[in-house]
Amino acid sequence: KRVVVFISGSGSNMVALAEASHATDFPAEIVAVISDKADAGGLAKAAAMGIATHAFQRRDYENKTAHEAAILAKLAEIAPDIICLAGYMRLLSAEFIRPYEGRILNIHPSLLPLFAGLHTHQRAIEAGMKVAGCTVHLVTEGMDEGPILAQAVVPVLSGDTADSLAARVLRQEHRIYRDVLRAVAAGEAPTTDSSQSVLSLG
Ligand code: GRF
Repeated sequence: KRVVVFISGSGSNMVALAEASHATDFPAEIVAVISDKADAGGLAKAAAMGIATHAFQRRDYENKTAHEAAILAKLAEIAPDIICLAGYMRLLSAEFIRPYEGRILNIHPSLLPLFAGLHTHQRAIEAGMKVAGCTVHLVTEGMDEGPILAQAVVPVLSGDTADSLAARVLRQEHRIYRDVLRAVAAGEAPTTDSSQSVLSLG
């Protein structure tokens, strides 16, 4: 399966997916990385891995519709089977999602539906949560609200800062995103019934 990964920043999730796809039995290939930021650190990492990159700097476009139209035109050329949003910090319109409905995945650094939106780790700590985690879900028109495909749980430790918690969660993001992409690309509904896929004290 042909996969395009969307990033806005460091792209550590994109790197994790690209590295996983190098396994001969992995049923997906990352054929391109798209970013809304020409200076996204992940673009250089993708290029170094031999993956085509395309930047669509938002300010180069008159409005959101024009920005999305440029990206959609590139996607039509690439013809991906699956789109993975990975640290992509921009909401997609319903018109953008429609042609790819059911084939757009996103990783969110919280146990949705808790803490949708931004600053999830700080909010979890401030709420006194004893656990935190991440979610891979299908992308629908609403923000961070599509069907949940996989989650991983980590402990919130006393003295945790947003950064220390983010680092603990990020390791699990890389793991579950790889597992979900493998399952979806293989045409299987990802399951999290095997215990180690859900509860990670990592
Ligand atoms: C990750 O926590 C991801 O969940 C969030 O952005 C952070 C950085 O992601 N959306 P990446 O390193 O750019 O993949």
